[in-house]
Amino acid sequence: MKKIFVLIIAIFGIITIKAEPITIKISTNETDLVLQTADNGRLFQLYLGEKLKKTEEYSNVSLRSQTNGMSWEVYPVSGSDTYFEPAFAIQHNDGNLTTILKYVSHSREQIDSNVDLTTIILKDELYPVEVKLFYKAFHDENIIKSWTEIKHQEKKAVTLNQFASSMLYLRNSSYHLTEYAGDWAKEVRESSIDLNFGKKIIDTKLGARANMFTPPFFTLGLDQNAKENEGTVLMGTLSWTGNFRFTFEVDNLNNLRVISGINPDASHYQLEPNEVFKTPEFVFTLSQKGKGQGSRNIQKWARKYQLKDGQKGRMTLLNNWEATYFDFDEPKLTALMQEAKDLGVDMFLLDDGWFANKYPRNSDTQGLGDWDVNMKKLPNGVHNLVDVANKTGVKFGIWIEPEMISPKSELFDKHPDWVIMLPNREPYYFRNQLVLDLSNPKVQDYVFNIIDKLMTENPDIAYFKWDCNSPITNIYSPYLKSKQNNLYIEYVKSLYSVLDRIKAKYPDLPMMLCSGGGGRSDYNALQYFTEFWCSDNTDPIERIFIQWGYSHFFPAKAMAAHVTSWNKNTSVKFRVDVAMMCKMGFDINIKELGENDQIFCKNAVQNYNKIKKVVFDGDLYRLISPYENNHASVMYVNGEKNKAVVYAYDIYPRYGEDLFPVKLQGLDNNKMYKVKEINLMPNQKSQLPCNENLYSGDYLMKIGLDILSTNRLTSRIIEIEAVN
Ligand code: DGJ
Repeated sequence: MKKIFVLIIAIFGIITIKAEPITIKISTNETDLVLQTADNGRLFQLYLGEKLKKTEEYSNVSLRSQTNGMSWEVYPVSGSDTYFEPAFAIQHNDGNLTTILKYVSHSREQIDSNVDLTTIILKDELYPVEVKLFYKAFHDENIIKSWTEIKHQEKKAVTLNQFASSMLYLRNSSYHLTEYAGDWAKEVRESSIDLNFGKKIIDTKLGARANMFTPPFFTLGLDQNAKENEGTVLMGTLSWTGNFRFTFEVDNLNNLRVISGINPDASHYQLEPNEVFKTPEFVFTLSQKGKGQGSRNIQKWARKYQLKDGQKGRMTLLNNWEATYFDFDEPKLTALMQEAKDLGVDMFLLDDGWFANKYPRNSDTQGLGDWDVNMKKLPNGVHNLVDVANKTGVKFGIWIEPEMISPKSELFDKHPDWVIMLPNREPYYFRNQLVLDLSNPKVQDYVFNIIDKLMTENPDIAYFKWDCNSPITNIYSPYLKSKQNNLYIEYVKSLYSVLDRIKAKYPDLPMMLCSGGGGRSDYNALQYFTEFWCSDNTDPIERIFIQWGYSHFFPAKAMAAHVTSWNKNTSVKFRVDVAMMCKMGFDINIKELGENDQIFCKNAVQNYNKIKKVVFDGDLYRLISPYENNHASVMYVNGEKNKAVVYAYDIYPRYGEDLFPVKLQGLDNNKMYKVKEINLMPNQKSQLPCNENLYSGDYLMKIGLDILSTNRLTSRIIEIEAVN
């Protein structure tokens, strides 16, 4: 219950009415975010940081509320007294650009013993505008999710010019930002900068393939560079499969403001009266033990609360894309299914090229949109392929790219009005294709029906790979007409509504999120997808870096990693050892490998099946960074700390380089563990002196194991098992 004391103070005959401040504490087991109202009725951030033991001591913190525009208002608005980047800006019906939000009430709902949801209502006293702030705290995982809802009752639509999901303030001696930008085939390259006065923005404007250059997550080192195992680190990600923007602004007092939300560029949203605009969820953790702990917090939370089938296993597979590209027929696919069976994987995945007749999909120049099986390549239809797979003893998965359309397609001939395309300019094509106008409900039905028809006709389809190769270009929706400003946002909302329908009808259908490699990698999409394709770059050297980058935010089971023939200078063992760090699959013609490699791959699948529970559900420890060493090493430890798997890669060791032992982490000091190298080539014997030896957890974590070598592009997988 809201409790307001009214204090009447008479000073020199002037009567001041003062309401006692209302303090709202949003807490996990480690972190407190404390908000407080000021005399003017507005809401400010008092504190964000490691939890205080004595709550009452928060009263010693001074509220940065009335300091002329340099306040820490929780949802600062533009155009009045905010000197820095606002979180919220709307234009009212009378043209006025200012909104002043005042605290009205708040409530807390205990969702279960680990999760609670705080809702705060703010309103403007002059205009009928209401903003709700939401904070969901996951106590054990040390995660807070925040988002807002905006609503108004003005006569006509208002224009939302800024509408952030979250605004956080930090007060430290220095700020160090790590971003994960890249491009196709060079996703998530880590780079860090120091933040000084002014703004640094990480954003994307690409619409559908939104994360082609940069994914929606960041790491912030506070007081020092973000380190793996020490120091305070804020790690955040926006759950939004579209244009996002993170603004990091250091102000005149060296406070850092972090604003996260949809990118408002070309999206000044027209919000109708009484329509509720929900901003995407911003998810963050504040770790006091470096980014290693931050990653474990996020991964644990994702498996438990966010990722589709986060607690379940994943299928190993053989994909035909790199083995055949578009050039296949029934006999070739039948042979590959047999290869999948012989290899021992769970599933065969048929990639691009199986559909379209008038404009057959024999290259990426045509056919997208015509989802009927290509009768020339596959005269007996998808049904027959599913049958063959079943008879062979593997499951069957299939590729689609349902949001896209080729200008050379029957769909385009029939429905040019279903395409995002400017009516008055030459279209710009990305990979020879355009994007369907998902804001149109008829297009949503059409996209839903692609999966629904395939599933209805072939209920045994066990998996979809959902690709999305083009950004949204030529931004114009024939459907939205005068509301073009809403298109980027409506597109994403409509995508979610299609995915909701699919999830409701096929709740147990696993799907891979793919976007020309890693062009989509956000946690809202991952409510619908069991995993995502990290990159088309499967060169194992590059993959070590790419998987390292994504591991900051995603659990291994969400990261699809395939063994391919990229970089034939590396051994098949090295390639497999790299894929085994994540969710392993194959995308290679196994028959083209030498006999030894074929045997090795089969054994590797068996080995993987034995360790994958630890890899999928264990805690990740990044031991040796490839960014700082000529080697890389990571390990996973299960919850009971009685099983672990360690990966060690020698990437570019120098001649005669001095090696050092790899200190393990996350084990139990008091347990004894047996160390065993696995995944060796046929007839290969482990060269590790520690192989088959017993060590205490204490020894393994303090002294470590000599598992690195000076041989370029070699690798080792080591199983660690408690014996007591
Ligand atoms: C891009 C994906 O990243 C690849 O894996 C493959 O599915 C192709 N598209 C097919 O066109």
